[in-house]
Amino acid sequence: MDERKNLRYPIPYEGQDIWPEKQWQWKKERTLKALADDELVFTSSNGGITVSYKQYQFDEEGEERGAKPFSVIDGIYTQHGTEAVASILGDGKAFPFPKPPALIKRLLQFGADSNAVVMDVFAGSGTTAQAVLELNREDDGNRRFIISQQRYETLEQQKANANICRDVTARRVRGVVEGYEFTGTQLTPLLEEKITWTQLRRAESLVSRVEALKSENADSFDTLVTKCEDGLLTLHGKTTCKGKADGTGSGFTYAAVSDTPLLGEYRDLGDKLPSYNDIAKYVFYTETSTASTNGSTDKTTGKIGEHAGTSYYLLYRPNRKTDWAVDMEFLNTVAASDPNNRLVVYCEKIWVHQHDRKQWEAQHGKKVRLMLVPFNLK
Ligand SMILES: C[S@@+](CC[C@H](N)C(=O)[O-])C[C@H]1O[C@@H](n2cnc3c(N)ncnc32)[C@H](O)[C@@H]1O
Repeated sequence: MDERKNLRYPIPYEGQDIWPEKQWQWKKERTLKALADDELVFTSSNGGITVSYKQYQFDEEGEERGAKPFSVIDGIYTQHGTEAVASILGDGKAFPFPKPPALIKRLLQFGADSNAVVMDVFAGSGTTAQAVLELNREDDGNRRFIISQQRYETLEQQKANANICRDVTARRVRGVVEGYEFTGTQLTPLLEEKITWTQLRRAESLVSRVEALKSENADSFDTLVTKCEDGLLTLHGKTTCKGKADGTGSGFTYAAVSDTPLLGEYRDLGDKLPSYNDIAKYVFYTETSTASTNGSTDKTTGKIGEHAGTSYYLLYRPNRKTDWAVDMEFLNTVAASDPNNRLVVYCEKIWVHQHDRKQWEAQHGKKVRLMLVPFNLK
């Protein structure tokens, strides 16, 4: 604590002045009132006198004062959760009551070793993901996360066709991974206290505690904000700040599940086969663990995308009349048009002899893996 001159004063005791070694905890008026109310205890120690204040086992209502339980989660406030979301998304109201990342980090430190896979199926604003990414950066860990979140949770959001998962959860996680710029006010919690009847009866002491905190912190913030809302008394130090948070790095994939199961409920496809694009996305994701084909899917050529120097093709017609087969003509067209040397082709029929394929590979300096469309769709 900084030295504060107004906390250095003598306390009169049995005709002598007791001075603090450095400073007292309370302001002079509060101490003198406690002295007058007989709430101070003077103890001789090491040739000097120490002063402490009395805490009664029972309060004025006769209720036993609860011993403050030992907490492993000190110094983390709900407000930190809102600040974390606000600084990344620029909107503190983007999600109600998000947990503070520091809280989840603390819990992960107890239970998730450095290779853990952390799953949060009710991800909300994505606090768990932020906590995993930040903790990995702090302790060089390799934890991974899987989170899921529904698109909307209120009727209004549903009517507005909102997508919380995309616009809040995924945006926040991407912000943490890639880094973000922020301008805003930083609120530092200095006090959060539930107002009970007992405290109301001792309002004066609570007010002087707030006043003491205010004068202690006056120089450290632009302004100090006191609020009493929904039975919670808070005091925050407010500072306007601008800054850039570095990204934590590492990969993150956002994927959306379709409204209906890709292969029909209980694999009952009925008359309607899954669309070309849906199977293309499925194939691309299972092959590459990457959701985006970068919009390069082309139903005419059958190319659905590229990833790490490999081209992926899907030869599939969602009807029950014709099959799209891979043949030598197809491979020769690809040889002439595709710059990549590694190819993966999913198709409905393979009309290429092993021997011809090997010869084609040797001739063009390419490798091709031929696969049948998943699930024997037809
Ligand atoms: C209490 S919030 C999670 C808050 C989050 N831990 C945070 O700090 O930001 C729970 C979330 O679960 C979501 N949810 C509820 N049922 C769900 C479901 N069946 N599938 C996916 N998400 C769901 C709700 O939309 C809500 O946002």
